[in-house]
Amino acid sequence: MEQGRLASLRREYGLDELSESEVAADPIAQFQSWFHEALARGCQDPNAMVLSTVSAEGRVHSRVVLLKNFDYGGFVFYTNYESPKARDMEKHTQVALLFFWPELERQVRIEGIAEKVSALESNEYFETRPLEAKWSAWASAQSEVIPSRQYLEKKFMEIKEKFGEKVPRPDFWGGYRVRPDYFEFWQGRPNRLHDRIAYKLCQGAWQIQRLSP
Ligand SMILES: Cc1cc2nc3c(=O)[nH]c(=O)nc-3n(C[C@H](O)[C@H](O)[C@H](O)COP(=O)(O)O)c2cc1C
Repeated sequence: MEQGRLASLRREYGLDELSESEVAADPIAQFQSWFHEALARGCQDPNAMVLSTVSAEGRVHSRVVLLKNFDYGGFVFYTNYESPKARDMEKHTQVALLFFWPELERQVRIEGIAEKVSALESNEYFETRPLEAKWSAWASAQSEVIPSRQYLEKKFMEIKEKFGEKVPRPDFWGGYRVRPDYFEFWQGRPNRLHDRIAYKLCQGAWQIQRLSP
């Protein structure tokens, strides 16, 4: 792409606004309200979030995962417990989550501590997955180098043959819960004077602050 065209790619925001007096007193309620709007207004993949982790060597890694549950206890996603992200979280439990809902001109940043959910909770969620997703959890040694696409499909067929319709949850697959201590809600506004409202957990209470755009 020609450089001038890329540099001039921008849009004005002006759908909505966010103020200290309007936001919920706690960020979970505020997230719930925005998440329901993202669902109601047809955002694509509203539960897709970027998870950033830090490796033992201090390298930062980001990737998309799907939010599968949230409440006052935290934000839950599922993954492979032997994946690079899981190894990162063993060493550094501090992680960041990021939602971007362009249709609403909104971003939500969340920071907190990641911990594994109970085996029971993982089992319950695993049971709700489509059969094919259960087989693929077994078939994929997530992020390992593999020789070919055919290799993966062969493994999938072997797992399918082995388990049929009764598929137990693999020990190496389950959920994490991110217990948040920081949120930031960003609403795009005209002239780049965006609204940013942050919540910081201080001695058990959420402090609300407006940030400069
Ligand atoms: C829309 C979307 C949803 C995804 N959801 C998940 C998920 O819920 N869990 C997961 O482990 N990987 C998910 N992935 C794949 C991850 O982004 C990533 O490729 C994979 O987890 C390996 O990451 P790692 O090598 O950093 O551990 C998703 C990717 C996309 C694009």
